[in-house]
Amino acid sequence: MSTLFTDIASLVRTGEAFGHLEVIEDAAMLVEDSKIAWFGKTSAAPAADEVVSLAGKTVIPGFVDSHSHLMFGGERSEEFAHRMAGQPYASGGIRTTVKATRAASDQELRKNAERLVQEFYSSGITHFEIKSGYGLDVETEARSLKISREFTEDVTFLGAHVVPEGIERQEYIQLVVGEMLAACTPHAKWVDVFCDRGAFSVEEAREILSAGIAAGLKPRMHASQLENLGAIGLAVELDCASVDHCTHLSPEDITLLSGSNTVVTLVPGAEFSTRSPYPDARRLVAAGVTVALATDCNPGSSFTTSMPFCIAVAVREMGLTPDQALWAATRGGARALRNDRGTLEFGASADFAVLDAPNHIHLAYRPGVQLVEKTFVAGKQVFERNK
Ligand code: NIG
Ligand code: FE
Repeated sequence: MSTLFTDIASLVRTGEAFGHLEVIEDAAMLVEDSKIAWFGKTSAAPAADEVVSLAGKTVIPGFVDSHSHLMFGGERSEEFAHRMAGQPYASGGIRTTVKATRAASDQELRKNAERLVQEFYSSGITHFEIKSGYGLDVETEARSLKISREFTEDVTFLGAHVVPEGIERQEYIQLVVGEMLAACTPHAKWVDVFCDRGAFSVEEAREILSAGIAAGLKPRMHASQLENLGAIGLAVELDCASVDHCTHLSPEDITLLSGSNTVVTLVPGAEFSTRSPYPDARRLVAAGVTVALATDCNPGSSFTTSMPFCIAVAVREMGLTPDQALWAATRGGARALRNDRGTLEFGASADFAVLDAPNHIHLAYRPGVQLVEKTFVAGKQVFERNK
């Protein structure tokens, strides 16, 4: 089965270099089964079984969300309301979600994630990572990862989210690097640590990530969200695929990152929802650091599934250009997961979104508007906006 999409106002491809886009106007794209078989000018398009006109629309690579926490029970809107009334955000709120997650059945966790994945599709996300981290006991961490694996190959073990109630700190860390890691490794690809105030220190993060690496997992980190504990050196030393949040970075951190293969994943939804200062993405880009954008979807600090929202905030508040933000949310996310998604290529999986807009700049220019009209994963339509 082949489908030719024609008259596309703007077909956007991402280049190798950070922020670089190649735009074809009046374009066509041929999808054969699950793959992109051809693209170019409409005037040169080949024949196909079916022809669909996308006049006035934009086609972009599907967003790659490299940081999400979809495995949880409950919600924390009251905590958000208190924050908006002046209370600060603290890592301790995680424990509220831990209680609800432990109490949830597998089917409840699966249903909650399914609903959020459907929201991801409606926002144009076609590939995503999911972390555990709201179980914090052997059984709930392992089942969280097992269910996550039903949705994506990029599953991350985050047993080191915080120290849960009812267990002494050293005992918990030994559990994480021992029995919990052994139970979780078969279901995960990545290991993550929340290295921050109220969570884990740099030395604890080193111990936990090293144990994960020795077990065959690949490292990534949450760091410098609430305070700069000096974790960037560790992230670079361990060749973490990505270090995420990075709200507080020193000039030395930026120098270290610019000479590394570690992506900085910015999560504007977290600063937005915790009313925190936004990191300066322009400073990172100027230093040659690769930047990704992710939703960080979780019930505490960033309960959004909308990548267009993250793009709009990153452009308005972090200093990315619309081109850089689109690149960061597609190819940047793919770099943060060390895969080659996030662009439109001959022979690649047909993962793309159709925007009801003449170009991709509208993603930031029209904040809060549902511009994503259709989303395709491997050539299959997974979302269509109500007409
Ligand atoms: O990425 N920073 C740590 N973890 C999550 C928030 C967790 C929560 O508050 O439930 C995050 O923002
Ligand atoms: Fe997170």
